[in-house]
Amino acid sequence: MSTETQRYSSVAKALHWLIAVMIIVQIPTGFIMHNLAFSETKYTMYQLHKSFGLIVLTLSLLRLGWRLTHKAPALPDHMKPWERVLARITHVGFYALIIGIPLTGWLMVSASPLGIDTKIFYVIPVPHWPVPVGEAAESFWIETHEVLAKITIGLLVLHVGGALKHHFVDKDSVLLRMVPSALHSKLRRDSSPKEAH
Ligand code: HEM
Ligand code: HEM
Repeated sequence: MSTETQRYSSVAKALHWLIAVMIIVQIPTGFIMHNLAFSETKYTMYQLHKSFGLIVLTLSLLRLGWRLTHKAPALPDHMKPWERVLARITHVGFYALIIGIPLTGWLMVSASPLGIDTKIFYVIPVPHWPVPVGEAAESFWIETHEVLAKITIGLLVLHVGGALKHHFVDKDSVLLRMVPSALHSKLRRDSSPKEAH
């Protein structure tokens, strides 16, 4: 069996898709809530955003731990050196972002002079970081949080483009090895020139 046919484990797949879905929802809702006028809806959206964001942080740390202790399947042999480097940069960048974005959000609310408590889904209290509090500090973290979210959008376009290129142009198994097994029959092609069976 070629290394190309190896897949990510169920744990790696579950963490990849859970985190991906939450980030893809958090980014637009983050921008929407930021632009809303003060209201109860805005307040509720902030609390939900903080709660889901802290769950993303927890899952991302678990995922990093998993990744550092489990090997990923090897990249297909046909990939050029620059494609391998780009894939590596994207993946390492994503790990930094899925931890960095929620962390800067947490630091932002810790630095806020409003001092609003953080409770996951209004129940589990989360302590704030002992960072300088004030408008300047808060603005710094808001700005960083926003820039990291924008970098994520750019990287996501590259990442999804790469996954689709692998599947439809290179016709290899890179997309298949990350999708849930239940979807394999729908996505599998009958013949694939670059796939070594
Ligand atoms: C999955 C992780 C997260 C993503 C993708 C994300 C993304 C975003 C985005 C795109 C914005 C809008 C930025 C702007 O318009 O300035 C935002 C705003 C915000 N985020 Fe997050 N965020 C995440 C996690 C968190 C966490 C964990 C917290 C706090 C515990 C948090 C707190 C906030 C707050 C308070 C705002 C509003 C800032 C303002 O209105 O000025 N975020 N987030
Ligand atoms: C914000 C959302 C996403 C993030 C943060 C993300 C992050 C990552 C990371 C870090 C890896 C490397 C896994 C590892 O080796 O440990 C990866 C792999 C992968 N992702 Fe995503 N991803 C996202 C969305 C998507 C989407 C929407 C697709 C679907 C087109 C996708 C398809 C894949 C595939 C096919 C791989 C396997 C690549 C390989 O085998 O080398 N990802 N993703």
